Amino acid sequence: MFRTSTSPDTTEFAGKRAIVTGGTRGIGAAIVQRLLDGGATVVTTARNASDETPKAATFIRGDIGTLAGVQAFTAAALDELGGVDIVVNNAAAARAHIGGISSIPDDEWTDALDLNYLSAVRVNNALLPALREAGPGSVIVNISSGAALTPAPPLAHYAAAKAALNTYSKALASELAPAGIRVTTIIPGNVLTPGADALRQKFADAMDVPLAATTAGIPLGRPGDPRDIAEAVAYLASDRAQWVTGVSLTVDGGELPVIQLLPEPSRHESRRIRSNSSTLVSATNSPSGCRGPAPEAPDPRRSPAHGQTPGPVSAVVAFQRVRRAVGAGVDAERAVGRVHELGASPRETTRWFRFALWTALVRKWHAIRL
Ligand SMILES: NC(=O)c1ccc[n+]([C@@H]2O[C@H](COP(=O)([O-])OP(=O)(O)OC[C@H]3O[C@@H](n4cnc5c(N)ncnc54)[C@H](OP(=O)(O)O)[C@@H]3O)[C@@H](O)[C@H]2O)c1
Repeated sequence: MFRTSTSPDTTEFAGKRAIVTGGTRGIGAAIVQRLLDGGATVVTTARNASDETPKAATFIRGDIGTLAGVQAFTAAALDELGGVDIVVNNAAAARAHIGGISSIPDDEWTDALDLNYLSAVRVNNALLPALREAGPGSVIVNISSGAALTPAPPLAHYAAAKAALNTYSKALASELAPAGIRVTTIIPGNVLTPGADALRQKFADAMDVPLAATTAGIPLGRPGDPRDIAEAVAYLASDRAQWVTGVSLTVDGGELPVIQLLPEPSRHESRRIRSNSSTLVSATNSPSGCRGPAPEAPDPRRSPAHGQTPGPVSAVVAFQRVRRAVGAGVDAERAVGRVHELGASPRETTRWFRFALWTALVRKWHAIRL
C-alpha cells in the first residue's frame, strides 16, 4: 500500500516550467501530477493521451522515437512554456524476446536505442540553450531502469540502451555542473504501470507462474507505485537537492543490493532433483519435444551417470527452489517445458529460472531475518 506522511509543498515549484516525456500514464503521469502539485507548469508528450493523463498539464501529441519527432515536440513545448527549468526524460518502451539475445531483430535494437536512450540525448540537446538561459538551478532527470544493472537476456536491447543513458547522464552532469545545471538519473525497480504490467505478464505466461511471482522478491514487501518514483523526481528536481548531481538514485524497494548475494544450487540438491527429473529432461531435450535450438552436448563433468544436458536439469533445480521459496502451487515441469517450447535453449531456460529463483530467495531471506 502506498503511503505518504506529508502533503507536497504546493509552492516548491511555483514559477517553474517543466517538460516531461511520456507523461500520459504510469510513472510519467505520476511525475507530471507531482510537479503540478508542487506548483509547476507542465507540458508532456506521448503518441496518445489516456484517462490517466493529468488534465492540468498541456499535452502535445508526438513521437520522440525519431530526431524529427523530438525537434517538433521540443519546439512546441518551448513555445507553450516560453522556456524550461525542469526536464524529465521518462518515455520508454521495452519489448521482451523470450528466445533471448540472438532472437532480437536488428530493427528492434535500433528502435530500443532510439527511444530508450537517444530520445533523451536529443531532447536534452534541443532544450539545452533554454536550460542555460534559465540558469543555475535548472535540472534534468533521466529515468533509467534496474534492467541496466541486472540485464535479463530477453530485454538485452532495452537494458543496454538504459545503461548507455546512465553513462551519458554522468558525462552530461560533469559538463553542465559549471553552469549550475544538475543532471541526475533515477533507476526504478518493479513499478506497477500499464507498460511494465504487460511485460511482466509476458514473463509470467512464459514461465507459467502467477503474475505476482514476478514481483515476489522485493524486500520492502510490495512492487512500486508510480508515486514512489514521482517523489524521487520531486526531490531531485527541487532545491533540496541543490548539491546533488551526476548520481543514479535506485528506487526499487531494496531489490537491487541483495540479489547479487544469491547462491548457485548445491551439488547435493542438483543430484537429487536430477535423479527425479530424468523423464522431463529427456522430453525437453528430444528434437520432437522442442521447437527451440538443438540441445547442447552432454556435460560429462555435471552428470556422468545420466548423460543428461546441464540446462534443463539446472532449470528444474532452480524452479523447485523457487516453488519452495515462494510456496506457490506452480508446476515446475510444466513451467520448464513451456519456456523451452517458446524457443529458449536449455541454457536460456536455466537462466530464466535462476532469475525467478533470485527474487524468491531474496524474499524468503528477508522473511527469515525479520
Ligand atoms: N514500470 C516499471 O517497472 C519500470 C521499471 C524500470 C524502469 N522504468 C522506466 O520508467 C519509465 C516509465 O515507464 P512506465 O512503466 O510508466 O511505462 P508505460 O506505462 O509504458 O508508459 C510509457 C510512456 O511513454 C510514452 N511513450 C512510449 N513510446 C513513446 C514514443 N515513441 N514517443 C512518445 N512517447 C512515448 C507512452 O505513451 P504512448 O505509448 O501513447 O506514446 C507512455 O506515456 C520508462 O523510462 C521505463 O523504462 C519502469
